[in-house]
Amino acid sequence: MKRSLSGIKPTGKLTLGNYIGALKNFKNYQDEYENFIFVADLHALTLPIDSKELYQNTKDIVALYLACGLDPKKTTIFLQSDVSEHSELNAIVQNYLYMGELSRMTQFKDISSKMNQSSIGLGIFAYPVLMAADILLYDADVVPVGEDQKQHVELCRDLVHRFNARYNEEVFKMPQPVMAKVGTRIMSLSDPTKKMSKSDPKGDIFLLEDLKSIEKKIMRATTDLGSDIYYNKEEKPGISNLLTIYASLKNISIEEAEEHFKDCHRYGDFKKEVASVVVEEISKIQEKYNEIINSNLIDEVLKDGAIRAKKVAKNVLTRVQKTVGLYGKE
Ligand code: TYM
Repeated sequence: MKRSLSGIKPTGKLTLGNYIGALKNFKNYQDEYENFIFVADLHALTLPIDSKELYQNTKDIVALYLACGLDPKKTTIFLQSDVSEHSELNAIVQNYLYMGELSRMTQFKDISSKMNQSSIGLGIFAYPVLMAADILLYDADVVPVGEDQKQHVELCRDLVHRFNARYNEEVFKMPQPVMAKVGTRIMSLSDPTKKMSKSDPKGDIFLLEDLKSIEKKIMRATTDLGSDIYYNKEEKPGISNLLTIYASLKNISIEEAEEHFKDCHRYGDFKKEVASVVVEEISKIQEKYNEIINSNLIDEVLKDGAIRAKKVAKNVLTRVQKTVGLYGKE
């Protein structure tokens, strides 16, 4: 059976962007693939974060995984920090990636450009190395991600080529990034030329946000000149973003969404309909989240998930350790 692996970093509250670009699709793999979904908690330490916040974000993500339809019988749900093999493989694969290629990563360039150059942490620079270790440790065939993470998966593919060529055998499986049909990059509601990210409260919709506030944000979303509803990212970035959100949540194509709104010539009416679809979807998630968040289910799922993940990870790590010549790894 083929394997799928992905994760989310608990650096903030999950957004509608995380949901549409990633989370919503994770469950699509649990019937046909062996599905591994984790919380990338070690990644969250690459930028300063309050310890209580990290703890709560981690718990929320697990509850949201379950609330969004991941079935712990079909999907192995676990914490990165519960499987120490991630760090052990990281220590090996870091020697097969170059500083030049890491410094060319768009996400690193974006983050580091806003920082004092002398205090950029090693962790944020080496972030894609750990991400490559996460993927390779499970022999993942596919990695469902949003557009912003595609470059990191491509780097992991370069690493696979390099490593396998060096040892002249297929030590690592070649992973393939896979993306949602609609909504690989959801934009900020306040500035639709920027990506919706966990740190933009005005332009974000959070999965655990009050429903009235979500509705308000959509009604106030920045839109464009004119009154027709069609998809064109250059001419109409705001309308295109809302159409994308609508199409994704209705599980239809952008063309079908355009067709649906072809006779609507008032942005207000359009936004109202988008808001009602978003609120309906998020309210269902919140209802399930509320049932789960204070139950024992989270700890039970993580305990079982760590055991299952570790079994696979240990095997792969041993294979790699033997390949590179670490003594005694029989
Ligand atoms: P993270 O936590 O930033 O985001 C989690 C997932 O959400 C997607 N995403 C979006 N998709 C569409 N529109 C948006 N506005 C948007 N914002 C975020 C991301 O592309 C991602 O798929 N490095 C990863 C976590 C990670 C990982 C891994 C993922 C660590 N190891 C191994 C896959 C495999 C990250 O920080 O994602």
